[in-house]
Amino acid sequence: MSTSRQVRLARRPEGEPTDDTFAFEEHELPDLEDGQLLLRVVYLSLDPYMRGRLSDAASYADPVGVGEVIVGGTVCVVEESRDPSYDVGDVVLSYSGWQTHAVAGAAHVRKLDPSSAPISTALGVLGMPGFTAYAGLLEIGKPQPGETVVVAAATGPVGSAVGQIAKVKGARAVGIAGGEKKRQALLEDFGFDVALDHRSPTFADDLAAAVPDGVDVYFENVGGPVTREVLRHVNLYARMPVCGLVADYNASAAPEGRDRLPGFMRLVLTKSLLVRGFIQGEFVKSHTRDFVRDMSGWVADGSVRYREDVVEGLDAAPEAFRGLLTGANFGKLLVRVSHDPTR
Ligand SMILES: NC(=O)c1ccc[n+]([C@@H]2O[C@H](COP(=O)([O-])OP(=O)(O)OC[C@H]3O[C@@H](n4cnc5c(N)ncnc54)[C@H](OP(=O)(O)O)[C@@H]3O)[C@@H](O)[C@H]2O)c1
Repeated sequence: MSTSRQVRLARRPEGEPTDDTFAFEEHELPDLEDGQLLLRVVYLSLDPYMRGRLSDAASYADPVGVGEVIVGGTVCVVEESRDPSYDVGDVVLSYSGWQTHAVAGAAHVRKLDPSSAPISTALGVLGMPGFTAYAGLLEIGKPQPGETVVVAAATGPVGSAVGQIAKVKGARAVGIAGGEKKRQALLEDFGFDVALDHRSPTFADDLAAAVPDGVDVYFENVGGPVTREVLRHVNLYARMPVCGLVADYNASAAPEGRDRLPGFMRLVLTKSLLVRGFIQGEFVKSHTRDFVRDMSGWVADGSVRYREDVVEGLDAAPEAFRGLLTGANFGKLLVRVSHDPTR
């Protein structure tokens, strides 16, 4: 019998998750049945959507129950197999959550080829976040050559891919990130045309100077004050794929101040804006084949670069997750739960 060290939801957070949101427990795993695999988690992906799963507010997916293991995408090594398609040592993409080991049905994992790309990229640029950027930008944003595309959280896995795909399509990419180091990385590592720091006191003026021809696509990752500023510059027929609102994920009450909805709706009307929310799963059937072909090609030829922020050990997950919601991460946030056998 194997044991798994797990992080379970101890209580639902009000606002920012605290230490007592999470409970570490040892749990005995059941013996394998036919068609099942015993997995050792190598990388756990930490993603902003997990904050929504810790709450029981109505959403597009069921919340994690109190007492349950927190959900999450993982890259794992097969330690024991009772399925003929998998051998011990195979590396797989799975959804094992915040734990060191898991039992999974072979039908619920996907084999990865470590010789084609670093295995961690299956959780980032070549995985769900990269796919989100690809499908949301191309299907809804539809950037045209010469147009201006703006994205915030721009050093993260979604935002950095959005900016670089926009460049591949011949658009001008304006990236917004928190702090000077991230701003520099947007220019030097990711090739954005202009990079802005949303924490700078001159942000509003910097943005106005960065988009002299207005904004044609605003890929909405954050909400909050950044979005309020960008909306001042949208062009007629601008497109706004609404991907995420991470600035509000820890909010426990509606923002103070006047109701901004009428002003926003007037803008949607007078600028003929396309505002379209999406959850990436909607596009999996229609866009996965093209994504795999295009994105692996762009990563291989250097048109799309990526950055990872790897923290060590499952114990580091709660603190790293809190930081993800406030910008402490710098790149795709991963937990190395155990040794990566491909390195
Ligand atoms: N719709 C979907 O299917 C889907 C799928 C995946 C992700 N998403 C969404 O896409 C967005 C980006 O995800 P990601 O995985 O790439 O995350 P990420 O960029 O690695 O991490 C979130 C970033 O948000 C920024 N941020 C936090 N609070 C902010 C604020 N008040 N104002 C401006 N920026 C703030 C921080 O960057 P700075 O330090 O640069 O501010 C932080 O690093 C999130 O909203 C996420 O929920 C949606």
